[in-house]
Amino acid sequence: MSKVLLTGGTGFIGSHTAVKLLEQGHEAVLADNLSNSSRDVVDRIEQITGKRPVFYEIDVADRQALADLFRKESPDAVIHFAGYKAVGESVAKPLMYYRNNLDTTLTLLETMAQFDCRRIIFSSSSTVYGASQPPFNEDSPTGGCSNPYGWTKFMIEKILEGAAHADERLSVVLLRYFNPVGAHASGLIGEKPGGIPNNLMPFITQVAAGKRDHLNVFGNDYETPDGTGVRDYIHVVDLAKGHVAALNYAESHTGTEVFNLGTGKGTSVLEMIHAFERANGLTIPYVIAPRRPGDLAFSFAETRKAEAVLHWKAEKNIEDMCRDAWRFEKGLL
Ligand code: NAD
Ligand code: UD1
Repeated sequence: MSKVLLTGGTGFIGSHTAVKLLEQGHEAVLADNLSNSSRDVVDRIEQITGKRPVFYEIDVADRQALADLFRKESPDAVIHFAGYKAVGESVAKPLMYYRNNLDTTLTLLETMAQFDCRRIIFSSSSTVYGASQPPFNEDSPTGGCSNPYGWTKFMIEKILEGAAHADERLSVVLLRYFNPVGAHASGLIGEKPGGIPNNLMPFITQVAAGKRDHLNVFGNDYETPDGTGVRDYIHVVDLAKGHVAALNYAESHTGTEVFNLGTGKGTSVLEMIHAFERANGLTIPYVIAPRRPGDLAFSFAETRKAEAVLHWKAEKNIEDMCRDAWRFEKGLL
């Protein structure tokens, strides 16, 4: 069993991963500056698991605060979620994104080296595949990102690869997430975007809740079966299990390894709307709007590597994702 530091641990994916780690007997230490999450998540993790994770409200780029945490906790491994993730905001405030996402990573790596912590799992994104052709496999070319957020993921992958190349004791696992959605079945933790949601599922749940009167479907003239964009949505609880599998892998391997975490199945925007309606017995009003700049027609994962090497496979379907996302949103009303 390991003691695992989760940077960004009170966030959407971090909180679900903390639950899975605690359920499997690991210890979880959460570090978060609460810039995009709230302290009550720690209580909710305890409610779900019966175990209270240790929580540090710190900026992960604060060298002193992070060193204090490492001195007190001596984590065996780190899962690095902390960072900003809003694509549009990254175009408007690129320096803020490069500063936060790169600084947290560099400070973390230097601190890990100082305290002899040698395992790190990083939250990368399918966005690094840029202009490659789907299905994306781990050897598909990366780069060609359409926004600063994507470039931070690309750059951090290179920084981590370089660190592992220079120190052969390091174990780096890069997890490229496809489209994480859904929430814990308890309805206690989930995704809570501030302001107007950028992503499809939180927008749909806010329309369902009556917070917004309709959904804009960004384009119905793509070369896809129904003309709307196709994505590989993955339930956040499946994603969390993928992190536990990656942690086990990192225990017995060094160097850098990359895994896609997706389902391998594509779902269009219209299919998602209808699945949500079926799963929850609701109607989602929508209008067809112009394409969103920077969007791809298709994105989905080749998933064989994670299945073969991590022995992990996503299990939940689109209806599960819709039902659980709605249960969490209802809890906010
Ligand atoms: P999130 O915003 O819910 O979680 C990130 C957490 O990091 C937040 O709680 C925030 O407060 C914290 N944070 C940010 N900067 C920090 C800093 N300097 N110090 C300490 N804490 C800091 O996002 P999420 O959806 O849980 O995503 C987690 C990671 O996965 C991010 O790195 C994100 O880029 C990546 N990712 C997310 C998606 C997605 O669609 N959700 C897709 C691919 C990759
Ligand atoms: C977006 C980001 C991507 C990031 C990912 C995280 C952009 C251009 N890309 O990807 O970098 O890694 O989120 O999950 O922002 N849609 C609508 N109406 C809406 C919202 C979305 O029709 O109100 C459509 C989109 O056009 C797309 C699909 O729904 O076809 C999914 O969109 P979204 O959830 O934003 O995810 P991505 O576009 O894959």
